[in-house]
Amino acid sequence: MKGFVPTPRETVDTMVELLFRPRAPAPSNTVLDPGCGTGEFIDGVLRWCDRRGIALPRITGIESDPRHLPVLRAKYERQRAVRVEHADFLAHDHAKYDFVVGNPPYVPITALSENEKAEYRARYATARGRFDLYLLFFEKALSSLALGGRLVFITPEKYLYVETAGPLRNLLARYHVEEIRLVREDTFGELVTYPTVTVLGNAAPGPTQMVHRDGRTKTVNLPPGRDPWLPLLEGATPPRAAVTLADVCVRISCGVATGADGVFVLPGDGLDPALRRFAHPTVAGRELTPAMGDFPQRFVILIPYDTNCRLLPLERLGALGHYLMRDDIRRRLLARTCVRRKPWYAFHETPVLLDILRPKILCKDIGEKPHFWVDRSGQIVPRHSVYYIVPREPAAIDVIAGYLQSPRAHEWLTRNCQRASKGFLRLQSRALQRLPLPDDVALAAAGTRAVPPGRSRTRQRELSFMR
Ligand SMILES: C[S@@+](CC[C@H](N)C(=O)[O-])C[C@H]1O[C@@H](n2cnc3c(N)ncnc32)[C@H](O)[C@@H]1O
Repeated sequence: MKGFVPTPRETVDTMVELLFRPRAPAPSNTVLDPGCGTGEFIDGVLRWCDRRGIALPRITGIESDPRHLPVLRAKYERQRAVRVEHADFLAHDHAKYDFVVGNPPYVPITALSENEKAEYRARYATARGRFDLYLLFFEKALSSLALGGRLVFITPEKYLYVETAGPLRNLLARYHVEEIRLVREDTFGELVTYPTVTVLGNAAPGPTQMVHRDGRTKTVNLPPGRDPWLPLLEGATPPRAAVTLADVCVRISCGVATGADGVFVLPGDGLDPALRRFAHPTVAGRELTPAMGDFPQRFVILIPYDTNCRLLPLERLGALGHYLMRDDIRRRLLARTCVRRKPWYAFHETPVLLDILRPKILCKDIGEKPHFWVDRSGQIVPRHSVYYIVPREPAAIDVIAGYLQSPRAHEWLTRNCQRASKGFLRLQSRALQRLPLPDDVALAAAGTRAVPPGRSRTRQRELSFMR
């Protein structure tokens, strides 16, 4: 079932309260529950009206999964005010509704077919980057909301800060987002999505009440545009034209993704000496611990590329070529879907050895707290669960690492990074790149050449590699 997560009754009732807070629905009003599942919100509206003894508005539930229809039909066949449509909410234009309430499906792009992705990208402004269906549901629900209408949705809080949700923030900021309520992490039991209830009126923008999980509240004016909202909602004033980490680095990227670590990553001990010229010490995120002294050197990664990002022809790989051509190895590599349009022994992503094999700072992609390690030798090859940060001035590596390890940088990263499960932080390169540096760190890190804010060579280089 695509994204079926039923909403608990208590949460439904709170959201229906918020929906009808300024005015009770009239019998002529219309209420929509898109992706209605087994009708939790429809039931919530029926309860709300029943408790107050008022006539029901006209309620429509739209659900694409046929397996829910028998339940829905059985529940509402005698309820003339309720209509259930078996349809794809995203595929059609709908009438305008006075109220929209629901819990849209959380379906990552990876669960969509190529056709679905192409179709959504063509139809929805919010279908950008690695989008999720709930962003599109938000967009579609906004376009289905009558003037003066109200919408209450429960979604992951991620839309407040992830880059992918920039187009949605841009859209929402044109309405009156009345309230953003970060609700209990365990609202959906084991499934931790850091849920957020958004209450919105189809009216001109106005002040937004932010309710934090610890009960703190704050009123803010959401800015127009795509910028993340979370720092503002948390109370930080982002330094406007500060020099950022990206300005003083040549690269901030995720480590090497081979698409077949089982083939390319081998224990260093007992490695065939003939393979050594292609072998580099390597670390994965799980091997990095705050207490460790030196980098663990248990594993090596075999890299069939040169420093100019060129995949070497098999005949120049010697013993590595023979190893890769072994029947079992070749079969494993051919089975990878990630390299369909590349030579069969290519990596999932081309490794940029010129930058990787330099003194650099490493951090895990996901961790309880941000923690940074310095690879002074420049010999360690980080794998895809490790980010690497290459300072433009190698001499500034300790100043930069010192700042990254400071409480001030940690606080900024905690505010600005996405959260993974168990409250862990996901340190993405985009967030690291935006980290503002205090003047003294920026000056030291820039060496003798001053870097104007926003002139990120990292960005320029990344773009030039993508071309
Ligand atoms: C997170 S569940 C919420 C179910 C219900 N509203 C609730 O809160 O208990 C999302 C629902 O959306 C449905 N859904 C997913 N994609 C849909 C689409 N394109 N059109 C209509 N419904 C869809 C799923 O089948 C699922 O029942």
